[in-house]
Amino acid sequence: MSNSPLSKSIKTLLTGLIPAVALASAVSCAGTSGEQDKKSESEDTPKITGVGTPIKESQLAKWDISVFFDGDNLPPGKGTLTEGEEIYQAQCAMCHGEFGESVRGYPKMLGGSMEEYIETAKHNENNVAIRGINNHWGHAPTLWDYIHRAMPFFAPQSLTVDQAYSVTGYVLYLAEVTDGSVEEIDADFIKSVKMPAADLYYTDTRPDVHNKRCMKDCYSGEPEIVAKQIKGNVSVGDVDK
Ligand code: HEC
Repeated sequence: MSNSPLSKSIKTLLTGLIPAVALASAVSCAGTSGEQDKKSESEDTPKITGVGTPIKESQLAKWDISVFFDGDNLPPGKGTLTEGEEIYQAQCAMCHGEFGESVRGYPKMLGGSMEEYIETAKHNENNVAIRGINNHWGHAPTLWDYIHRAMPFFAPQSLTVDQAYSVTGYVLYLAEVTDGSVEEIDADFIKSVKMPAADLYYTDTRPDVHNKRCMKDCYSGEPEIVAKQIKGNVSVGDVDK
């Protein structure tokens, strides 16, 4: 395996997706987890052999699409606002609105002002109606990743890399984050965009926690419900404490 950012993504993305045995042989080079983990693994994990096959680079490539907030792993490619507009109007506008204003309750590309958004958040008010790319997205590479991986909603991962550059550029323009003067939308441009909400985000540098597996009688107390974030089957809205 190369030293590409794949090793970073593979740990976060694939750990839960590939049987542990295949993972152990395929990505053992992705990083060591420390003596402590090795010890508890050898004590707790049953030894299984003869299962799984090593993963090929070409198979991994399909999973290697994670782009990090700083733009790490943005693939080579480029697009334009004109192409972005065409794609957006054909594949996105029916849900997100011709001007990013949203239709049928789908998320807005252009939400309320940053000031208004922060004010409602401070008072714990329901601000879904004014949420947008312009006020709650911290990093443009994350937006690129999201669009490339998840949109259009009816056909995720159908956009080519170049189309993802075009339409992400157009979404940034609709959201009034950029002014529309860009000629070539590529990795450098996406990295250079300063999102209005950038300063509201911080990088959590705490290490990952490795818990010991527990299958039986793991907790003896009564669970205490601190907050609920789901009302009915909708994951947004008021938070009942
Ligand atoms: C069929 C409706 C539909 C279409 C078409 C669609 N989306 Fe979405 N989009 C959604 C839904 C639903 C969500 C919220 C998904 C979620 O939160 O899990 C969403 C979320 C988003 C978000 C994140 C919004 C936020 O503030 O969190 C972006 C950006 C986005 N879509 C861009 C696009 C782009 C670009 C296209 C076209 C290539 C597109 N969408 C096509 C329904 C759609």
